[in-house]
Amino acid sequence: MLRPLRSIAIFAACCIAVLSQTTQLDNLVHAVGRITPTCAELGCGREDIGICSCATSCTKWDNCCQDYWTHCTSRHHHFELRDVTLVVTTDIHSWVSGHHQVRHINATLAHAVSLVQQIKTISQKERHDVFFFDNGDINDGTGMSATAQDHVSYLVDIMRNVPYDALNIGNHELYQLDGRGEIEGKPCAIVGMRDTGYIDHWNGKYLTSNVVWADTRKPVGSRYAVITGEFGTNLLVFGFLYNMKDHCDAVIVEDVSSCVNSGWFRDAVDHHSTSVDAVVILAHMDYRDELVDVILTEVRRIVGQKKPVQFLTGHSHIRGSRRLDAFASSFEAGCKLNTVGFVQFDTHTSGAQLDFNLVAVDGNTADLAGFANLSQDDLMTPQGKVIARTIDDVSSSLGLDREVGCSDTWYRNWAPLDQNDSLWALYVKRVLPDTLFVHERQWAIIGTDALTYDIFPGWLTVNDAYTTSPYANFWLRVSNVRGSVLEELEARLDNKTNQEDIGERWRARSNPSPDLPSYVTTGRVDTQIFYELIYCDFDAWTVETELRQIVGKVPESEVYRPRTNTSSVLVSWFQDRTCKDNAVVV
Ligand SMILES: *[C@@H]1O[C@H](CO)[C@@H](O)[C@H](O)[C@H]1NC(C)=O
Ligand SMILES: *[C@@H]1O[C@H](CO)[C@@H](O)[C@H](O)[C@H]1NC(C)=O
Ligand SMILES: *[C@@H]1O[C@H](CO)[C@@H](O)[C@H](O)[C@H]1NC(C)=O
Ligand SMILES: *[C@@H]1O[C@H](CO)[C@@H](O)[C@H](O)[C@H]1NC(C)=O
Ligand SMILES: [Zn+2]
Repeated sequence: MLRPLRSIAIFAACCIAVLSQTTQLDNLVHAVGRITPTCAELGCGREDIGICSCATSCTKWDNCCQDYWTHCTSRHHHFELRDVTLVVTTDIHSWVSGHHQVRHINATLAHAVSLVQQIKTISQKERHDVFFFDNGDINDGTGMSATAQDHVSYLVDIMRNVPYDALNIGNHELYQLDGRGEIEGKPCAIVGMRDTGYIDHWNGKYLTSNVVWADTRKPVGSRYAVITGEFGTNLLVFGFLYNMKDHCDAVIVEDVSSCVNSGWFRDAVDHHSTSVDAVVILAHMDYRDELVDVILTEVRRIVGQKKPVQFLTGHSHIRGSRRLDAFASSFEAGCKLNTVGFVQFDTHTSGAQLDFNLVAVDGNTADLAGFANLSQDDLMTPQGKVIARTIDDVSSSLGLDREVGCSDTWYRNWAPLDQNDSLWALYVKRVLPDTLFVHERQWAIIGTDALTYDIFPGWLTVNDAYTTSPYANFWLRVSNVRGSVLEELEARLDNKTNQEDIGERWRARSNPSPDLPSYVTTGRVDTQIFYELIYCDFDAWTVETELRQIVGKVPESEVYRPRTNTSSVLVSWFQDRTCKDNAVVV
């Protein structure tokens, strides 16, 4: 199993296309990590600025791009009528109720759904079809997700009310959650989605073109769907996932190249090629991924050069688009509801090239309403209101708004460990020892992609804690490890980058701060003494592989304190720390 990479907030990648396709990734990580970028340098979010990436380090949109309001005046878009409109959300990661800290991104899923319905109403007058898609990674990001053992059982109550025409699977639906039987529960989120009836609920529109159940080899959802709009537009829709290696054992992810060369794929494209107006490929992969070209080549071989083909891409959490040929394009619409993506084209054109209108609307209620020429008061539809109510009901039943305790200061995720505002220093020097350790001879190591958002001064809610630490990985321990071994383990892990492990071109470290090591530990060790080593299941493969190389045998690990996890320790630590006159009583 390869080391998984989770929240793919690639700050560096977002800038590649803005600055120059050929600029070295490393230089960018370095440069952007140290300067405070401006929108004049990065762009205004129309193309590639990774709003989510900014939000990881900065806490407000304006922090990322201080000149956003003055420089970016062209971000207001208006909906224009075309024959076909495709609307897409991707990588929602349970961010269904707006970003309270990134104030500009304040739209909820209820607002997004309302906009889609408003656009449908406008389009109906001209008898034009509008379709709505989700491109996967619905979970892992907020308290709505990992408060559930399977990371999805609360979330699906909300998602099943959204009027999607088709949905795709993402890698986050496929991470192993039960340590392959070490702890009780669903092996991965997709099993929860099956067992709650969520997949069946979509009636063949939950698409998994290359993901099958390991036991039956049957597709998890449907391989593809033909969907017909109210005014007769027909689309052939697929749902692909990149060649994910570190998936849970409940499924098999089939190689995309083999898949598009298999009989069912060719038959599907061949059978429907004349009757459909366009082929839509939901693809949970970066918009530049070469697998996009692999799929397109096979589709083109069958449908010819002039059938419109649109890829709706994702996974790298950025905005971007790529023209693939005269009648094909690839469009990635941000993440975490910072973007509602629109793709439009005409089906009745005789030109030598199809004009795709691609618009990324900011997840802001004023921008969403403005896109449909509505006032903010008129945006919300009855179905939007139902979703808003469901979000509220689920949040309150989970107690997500409960104030846990108070934070004395602003802890920054990307701050170097030796600074007093370092979130990572707080986590490994205070939170883990206080909540997890029971004696002196315990030592923990953890990958720095485990935390994703800052902690702000003042009251911290359950949801805030889960936003900062969203993955709720359980803990493992190995007893009797000599300090000298731990020292070497740390040194080895520090030299590792996820990129080596994953070997994927468009994936970089999700926490690309030049000031933080890849792994951090609870402290120095005495090389002569024996310790209990503690790490989380997400890091298990990497930690255990290195350990085996150092000591020459497979370490014996066991689950440690099964009722705690990488998220719950934050809730426990802040519990009962109160705020008094803006000072903290500890
Ligand atoms: C993490 O631990 C908390 C506290 O025990 C629990 O409520 C939550 O469900 C756990 N999350 C997962 C994914 O197991
Ligand atoms: C969202 O932010 C915009 C300004 O960017 C503001 O006009 C609007 O009222 C906010 N919406 C909500 C629901 O707070
Ligand atoms: C919205 O307003 C803009 C600018 O006035 C206009 O160009 C556009 O056609 C309008 N769109 C709709 C759907 O009314
Ligand atoms: C952190 O250090 C800065 C100076 O480097 C100081 O101004 C600030 O008060 C310190 N904050 C805390 C919480 O100790
Ligand atoms: Zn994602």
